[in-house]
Amino acid sequence: MASTPPTPSEPVAEASIRIDSHLDGSAERSLADDVLDGLTRPFKELPPKHFYDARGAELFDRICELPEYYPTRAERAILEEQAAAIAELTGAVELVELGSGTAAKTRVLLDALHSAGTLRRYVPVDVTESMVRDSAEELASEYPGLSVHGVIGDFERHLDLVPEACGPRIVAFLGGTIGNFPPGSRRRFLRKIARLLGPEDHLLMGTDLVKDPRVLEAAYDDAQGVTAEFNRNVLRVLNRELQADFDPDDFDHVALFDPENEWIEMRLRARREHTTLVRDLNLPVHFDVGEELRTEISAKFTPERLEGDLSAAGLELVSWLTDRDALFALTLSRTSTG
Ligand code: SAH
Ligand code: AVI
Repeated sequence: MASTPPTPSEPVAEASIRIDSHLDGSAERSLADDVLDGLTRPFKELPPKHFYDARGAELFDRICELPEYYPTRAERAILEEQAAAIAELTGAVELVELGSGTAAKTRVLLDALHSAGTLRRYVPVDVTESMVRDSAEELASEYPGLSVHGVIGDFERHLDLVPEACGPRIVAFLGGTIGNFPPGSRRRFLRKIARLLGPEDHLLMGTDLVKDPRVLEAAYDDAQGVTAEFNRNVLRVLNRELQADFDPDDFDHVALFDPENEWIEMRLRARREHTTLVRDLNLPVHFDVGEELRTEISAKFTPERLEGDLSAAGLELVSWLTDRDALFALTLSRTSTG
């Protein structure tokens, strides 16, 4: 943390924390609707946001430390090199972060805004309640005078509940989470983000880049099996939240690069033929042996693909920043004026 303690003559600004929760029961309904949609399709599928209960969030943190999972380290390296320039270029007084998680890398940006003397407010937005509450407490105590306005909600449904800007803002969407949207939804979502941006604001977005499929597949199928546990965790969420009776050990973890779509697919493959009951929905779900349930796509980008998506959302690229090995890109963009 770069903040210096105040000298005795300086007044100590009061940190303030406000947390708004928009989930009250709607998260359970959204899970039930997604399960009803996804497990009755000819090719079974679940959206990745349901990975992140407290255990899923903890497993994701462990993934970020794995030797095979390079995106977190690469994005952090870019931030460490470029955060001061980002602070200067944007003049941001506030940072809104979508899918903020533990906000581990966020501190690099907050340090730079703090050093530039502009930092006033941090707005973490995440579907995992404990993440928002814990990071709000921690950051408010680490940065004297910082106001934290946490939003517990689904960024696909609750973006309009992000508070009004209090000055030039950065909306950060880090980690490559944009890659978890399929292409049409991705553009739709970027359009919604664009509506959060005024003429003085910037989107700071992390995207993983296309590379050797062996490197990609290893990043999603690590030797310690942490990603496999993360993948199977979604079944535990269904068991707990919807009284389903999945046995996670009935499924193998699968991670494959699809070269046509340039994305990683994570799937769960049934080891035996069986039928599971999702009790709360009164829904029997049959799996043939070898049948797969898709749990995540993680799209990988080229500069052209990213510019196409940004421009389809009414955004223009301001800076393209990458790490030494060109594994990952961080981009700054703003709404196009033309
Ligand atoms: N930004 C962090 C965390 C990435 S993990 C990083 O770069 O390391 C993805 C995060 O997005 C998780 O914290 C998860 O809880 C959150 N998330 C996923 N889907 C979401 C949704 N629909 N709405 C809000 N948060 C979501
Ligand atoms: C959060 N998201 C960007 C991660 C990814 O790489 O797509 C989630 C993840 N899935 C498996 N490993 C990490």
